Amino acid sequence: MSPKTDLYDSAYRNYESDAYRLVRVETYGEDFGQTSWVTTEESHEIPRLLGLTPGSSVLEIGCGSGGYALHLVETFGCRLVGLDINPAGIRNANQLALARSLASRARFQQCDVSKNLPFDNETFDAVFSNDVLCHVPGRPGLLGEMFRVLQPGGRMLFSDALVVGGLLSYEEIATRSSIGFYVFSPPGENERLITRAGFCNVRAMDATESAACIAQRWRQARDRRKAELIAAEGNVNFEALQRFLSCVHVLTSEKRLLRYVYCASKHEKDS
Ligand SMILES: C[S@@+](CC[C@H](N)C(=O)[O-])C[C@H]1O[C@@H](n2cnc3c(N)ncnc32)[C@H](O)[C@@H]1O
Repeated sequence: MSPKTDLYDSAYRNYESDAYRLVRVETYGEDFGQTSWVTTEESHEIPRLLGLTPGSSVLEIGCGSGGYALHLVETFGCRLVGLDINPAGIRNANQLALARSLASRARFQQCDVSKNLPFDNETFDAVFSNDVLCHVPGRPGLLGEMFRVLQPGGRMLFSDALVVGGLLSYEEIATRSSIGFYVFSPPGENERLITRAGFCNVRAMDATESAACIAQRWRQARDRRKAELIAAEGNVNFEALQRFLSCVHVLTSEKRLLRYVYCASKHEKDS
């Protein structure tokens, strides 16, 4: 089923436009090209949770525009591969890597991560994914693939903004799902799937309030740039995205939908 409302194409195609850039700055504070619920504080916490060092080899699943991946490469000196299904996101990410002279350490590849990941076993020291797994069919298979490509002792992190915390109407589910394929999960299911994939040291951190805050700031920032955004994405799409962002704000501030960040590690090999 194709989505009725577009978020990602317009965000990645118009990445360099002032209107989209200012919306990102006003929503997140620091512009990493985000199209997610990751706050600036979380963006700075992720490398610590993943234990990134200059020697790390990192995989980002669902890298979108590539902005955050390149920030990690620039700041930590690590090497990184980013995967995303969206061709405009991958094109943007590779152009940014070239423009910032980071193409020798960062590369981006179009890939549907619901299929097997195109890497050998134990390729990466860290694998992470910000607000992507909710879009991907076959989560147990993807977690198994993330485990397979990770080195023993490596760390994994992902976030899920679609953990069900209370009652949801059909209309709310439809609006919350209007921009693409979505999987909602019951509390505890991600922890169970992460453990079943083979990971240990599983931690779940509640990030629901930050999603509520980002959704509201994003909708208000878009409202201030309404004319430019309507020119880029059309009136119908603009209004549908505003309803989507309003819906995220209401459901997360009422804690009927929860957002969690999960991290875990792969056992060291026995010597
Ligand atoms: C909420 S955005 C997050 C993007 C980025 N991680 C960020 O924090 O801004 C979700 C991303 O998942 C990507 N995506 C959705 N389904 C996918 C799939 N099956 N394989 C790879 N990427 C996918 C979308 O194209 C989009 O870029």
